[in-house]
Amino acid sequence: MNIRTFTKLAAGAALIAVTAGAAKAQEGVEVLHWWTSGGEAAALNVLKENLQKEGISWQDMPVAGGSGVQAMTALRARVTSGDPPTAVQMLGFDIKDWAEMGVLGNLNDLAEEQGWDEVIPAALQEFSKFDGDWIAAPVNVHSTNWLWLNKAALDKAGGEAPKNMDELFALLDKFKEQGITPLAHGGQPWQDGTLWESVVLSVGGMDFYKKAVIEADPEALSSDTMRQVFDDMSKLRTYFDPNFSGRDWNLSTALVIEGKAGAQQMGDWSKGEWLRADKKPGEDFVCIRFPGTQGSVLFNSDQFVMFDVGEDKRDAQLKMAGAVEDPAFQIAFNTVKGSVPARTDVPDTEFDDCGKKGMKDLAEAAASGNLAGSLAHGHAQPSAVKEAVFDVVTQHLNGQITTDQALERLPQAVASAQ
Ligand code: BGC
Repeated sequence: MNIRTFTKLAAGAALIAVTAGAAKAQEGVEVLHWWTSGGEAAALNVLKENLQKEGISWQDMPVAGGSGVQAMTALRARVTSGDPPTAVQMLGFDIKDWAEMGVLGNLNDLAEEQGWDEVIPAALQEFSKFDGDWIAAPVNVHSTNWLWLNKAALDKAGGEAPKNMDELFALLDKFKEQGITPLAHGGQPWQDGTLWESVVLSVGGMDFYKKAVIEADPEALSSDTMRQVFDDMSKLRTYFDPNFSGRDWNLSTALVIEGKAGAQQMGDWSKGEWLRADKKPGEDFVCIRFPGTQGSVLFNSDQFVMFDVGEDKRDAQLKMAGAVEDPAFQIAFNTVKGSVPARTDVPDTEFDDCGKKGMKDLAEAAASGNLAGSLAHGHAQPSAVKEAVFDVVTQHLNGQITTDQALERLPQAVASAQ
């Protein structure tokens, strides 16, 4: 080999090395999510750090707003401008909608390699797969029909956990006598919807929830049972503090943590805030199923979808999806987040009592047919229907429409959004 050829080859090799180095340095993910509260951010850090250890950089795109309504608006704007993020936190029916548009990356090879089919339960696969292809990596299972109580306030009120709506109202009366806000609620449509679905389940039971919410049956939506639901919502409203309107969910949790309020109805992401404040279940707070709903679970699952943004991003996307399904990550993340693992083969040993209860309740509800998707968190109906329900529920809760009007409008609003 003459020196000229050698120099040429060496220069070529150097160029390849530089290019590969640059590609490696660039390997990263931009992640759109709505995990902005203290507890949520702490959980997200587990994932960030795991990926950084693997040399994947993390570009954060947080969009505040519980249940992700604002995050989905931001996502649409990014996609419309032709620049989707690489990875997006997403819920239920939104995943189906984006999958239908054919813009999500296929995760089949990774799913097969890691055996997702065997360990992700059917209720989640329903949203993680589209046309038989894996298009989302489930992070967790949350559930919404919980009540979070300040233990000291509960003890002072006699220590009995309420088992139905009447007992709940009696307990809230006792909190009122203690001079604290009985029920910490944040008046935002998604929070109103989260409270409403628990009341629907409590008043009507799972069969009614399925009929009214999952099947959107017009008769169920305007039935006497639904009348009772709206009446109970009006009654619950009398236990809120005057500043409830527009308040973020985590600020309501803080009121219960500080003992300024007795209870909060909220999904189990609320536990993340208690843990973040160094509080312990059974000592500082008590988690119970929303009164009258023990045995049933309304679930939602945070999943990451990978937008089809080009081959150069693919490796980092797959590493992120793979990291999410790692059993050790499932434990590390979900013990902090308040949720339970998306995999059925993860032991509950490292979970606290609320986490253990969450896992047991979920398994039992799935086995007995008492597991259904949360409407407020995207697992019962497409967004348009969900928002139509929120409109009616919020207007009613704020006294802008009567119960009679709510019963008339609910089926109409749902029908026109379908
Ligand atoms: C998500 C949770 C999140 C909560 C509040 C839910 O829709 O599933 O992960 O913590 O909204 O933002």
